[in-house]
Amino acid sequence: MKVLLFHVNKEETGYVNACNRKFGFELEFADFDFNSASAERFMGFDAVWITTNCKVTEEKLQQLKKAGVRYIVSRAAGTDHMNLAAMKESGIKGANVPRYSPNAIAEHTVCLILMCLRKMKRELNMIDRFDFTLNGLKGRELRNMTAGVIGTGRIGAKTIKILNGFGCRIMAYDLFKNPDVTDIAEYSDLDDVITGSDILILHCPLTKENERLINSRAITRMKKGVVLINTARGGLMDYDAVLEAIENGKVSAAAFDVYDGEAPYIRKKVERDKLESKTLKRLMENENVIYTAHMSFYTDTAIENMIMTTFDNLQEYEETGHCSNEVTGL
Ligand code: NAI
Repeated sequence: MKVLLFHVNKEETGYVNACNRKFGFELEFADFDFNSASAERFMGFDAVWITTNCKVTEEKLQQLKKAGVRYIVSRAAGTDHMNLAAMKESGIKGANVPRYSPNAIAEHTVCLILMCLRKMKRELNMIDRFDFTLNGLKGRELRNMTAGVIGTGRIGAKTIKILNGFGCRIMAYDLFKNPDVTDIAEYSDLDDVITGSDILILHCPLTKENERLINSRAITRMKKGVVLINTARGGLMDYDAVLEAIENGKVSAAAFDVYDGEAPYIRKKVERDKLESKTLKRLMENENVIYTAHMSFYTDTAIENMIMTTFDNLQEYEETGHCSNEVTGL
């Protein structure tokens, strides 16, 4: 099988090649952009290996079909970058890596929570300026707070288990209760979690139904001084509303690892004035906001699992024409 790989960085190439000794696929590392590439670029490949910033649109699927591509393997867990209905229509099959390391994202999430509560961005900026005072640094303790987790699947459940160790009250909302955490989290309806949390944490997938879940209306109903954490997907938050609420003090701190419309700049070093979103720039400048660039998954264990499972998915497709990690959109 001939595979075209996108977004494998220099650090990972050696590991990918080493793993491939077991599989013996013909690999080619793309040096062009998936989203803007023409159909000719994909000619001769059986499969493409993608990440979340490769957008699998109807148009892209037509190109891939024309080029003869049969499989799309995404090394991510989320699938909102893939139009699953259009994939079904096109006959091109696709798989993801549903569980490479929920711990990686959960640990990053808790790290962001603690950084917000202990005003770590301000402190690090002050230390850079040799300001060793405590001005504006009084923090809050988790054990006195209520954390609300929206989405209690693999990652949400890990976050809840870690948070439980800090002794805080944990509220949770999901379409389905996860029996792994019912003894440590109080399931409530969405509105109760939104209005009752001191720290609101998003761990649900982005769907048509929950787009801009955190918008100005939701923020109005939240506690004053709420902390917002999003390591799920940018589209779940209205970042203009978050900026306004940070600036007027309703939200005391926000940390996010994902931003709506991140695709053009993510994984690149860009000039400051090339960053189009004024909202993102203003958020980044705010000392009560922490932004990390979609890297909460990025640990040694997660990357190894992600790469190995993507190879396994390809192998299963090659041997059977099916894959147990096939993305169906159901
Ligand atoms: P999962 O499928 O194990 O859990 C998702 C949970 O969300 C499920 O329990 C589901 O019932 C629930 N859910 C679905 N729609 C909901 C809604 N409207 N409201 C409340 N709950 C809802 O997925 P997992 O592995 O926990 O990942 C969650 C999300 O985290 C992914 O969809 C992805 O967007 C994001 N993610 C972010 C990463 C990063 O690097 N920042 C890395 C991996 C995942």
